[in-house]
Amino acid sequence: MGGNNPYIKAPQIQKPTRKFRITFMEREPKVIEVDPAKIPYCETGLAGSLLDIALSHGIEIDHACGGVCACSTCHVYVKEGLETCSASEEAEQDMLDLAPDVRPNSRLACQCVPNGEKDLVVVIPSWNRNLAREGH
Ligand code: FES
Repeated sequence: MGGNNPYIKAPQIQKPTRKFRITFMEREPKVIEVDPAKIPYCETGLAGSLLDIALSHGIEIDHACGGVCACSTCHVYVKEGLETCSASEEAEQDMLDLAPDVRPNSRLACQCVPNGEKDLVVVIPSWNRNLAREGH
């Protein structure tokens, strides 16, 4: 499940045209090289979203609604490179209102699509990691 939610306004997305890196900060930092030719990676969340990229590289961010902007479980912090990401639409902001510990750099991973003009650093809150899938 995933992709676009037909009931909300789709964000304006600028697709990346070159390879770039995302460092996901979990217990240990994990660096992913994103290849635009491989997007979408797994079809969960918007194509090329942080969730799409993370899940396809073994980084288990919770995504209770399947990546269609209908929950807030994929809440992450974009520590670096936020300015290169798709803008947060009203539907995303409404869902973020339900998330704990929201900060100025909070995003829903399923709705946040980087354009690849800069490398990113993304912090996954400890309470948002999918512990069940990590076997703990
Ligand atoms: S997975 Fe539900 S809003 Fe992102």
